[in-house]
Amino acid sequence: MRLEGKVAFVTGAAAGIGAAVARRFVAEGAAVALSDVRAEDGAALSEALNADGHRTCFVPLDVSFESQWAEAVALATKTLGGPTVLVNNAGIYARRLIEHTSVSQLDQMLAVNVKGVFLGIKAVLPAMRAAGGGSIINLSSVAGIIGSGFSSDYNASKGAVRILTKCAAIQNAKDNVRCNSVHPAPIETDMGYEAVPAGAIGEQRLQEIPLGRMGTAEEVANAILFLASDESSYVTGSELVVDGGLTAR
Ligand SMILES: NC(=O)c1ccc[n+]([C@@H]2O[C@H](COP(=O)([O-])OP(=O)(O)OC[C@H]3O[C@@H](n4cnc5c(N)ncnc54)[C@H](O)[C@@H]3O)[C@@H](O)[C@H]2O)c1
Repeated sequence: MRLEGKVAFVTGAAAGIGAAVARRFVAEGAAVALSDVRAEDGAALSEALNADGHRTCFVPLDVSFESQWAEAVALATKTLGGPTVLVNNAGIYARRLIEHTSVSQLDQMLAVNVKGVFLGIKAVLPAMRAAGGGSIINLSSVAGIIGSGFSSDYNASKGAVRILTKCAAIQNAKDNVRCNSVHPAPIETDMGYEAVPAGAIGEQRLQEIPLGRMGTAEEVANAILFLASDESSYVTGSELVVDGGLTAR
């Protein structure tokens, strides 16, 4: 079991990549606090995992509010113990050009995708220090590495996550807290199908991927598992692409 004895906190765990991470982590022996704004779906997944003999809980959390982070981490800690793994996975997406993006849309994108990650790191550091170390994994995207002709504020937010990750890695290495970012290409989730819609635009995007297909949530969860486990004990401040070769061109 690659995560035996670890307590993980996963944001956006009700669906998509976050749900796949929760499933993969419990299968490797972790106790997992699932959090999301979608309370019904998140609680249902947690109950299903517990019914299979795993140790999980669901805590409601909108990642863009600092007070909610404090409550959510406290509740998770009371139920499962202090988290030593954090997966900052919750995120939102939009296809829109700069000139068609309002200030309120920009603010909302940055509040969830950047402030949410920033607050998550802040919220779990005390528990990780107390435990003698930990691993933080932030979901960026290929959109955080390369530009796009059809999305803008999303790419800006994911670029910020990439560099925030490196700052967190440097600042917390002394406490044995590692921090790495993961950069998927389009993945078969609700968000991925928004980015790669059916039809000509989607076909063109798939042709840009050397492996010629979208990835699965499980393939991203496998990469996150490596970063969460002690197998990656010398890996911090890195950016792991899970992109079918998209950024290799
Ligand atoms: N799917 C892709 O193609 C893809 C590619 C690259 C990166 N990513 C990144 O991976 C992460 C997960 O993406 P996904 O495809 O699973 O998305 P998804 O839309 O399928 O699921 C996202 C989850 O996050 C939750 N969420 C949204 N806003 C929230 C908030 N404010 N607080 C708490 N939870 C919130 C949603 O309720 C949902 O359960 C995101 O950060 C995304 O940007 C996804």
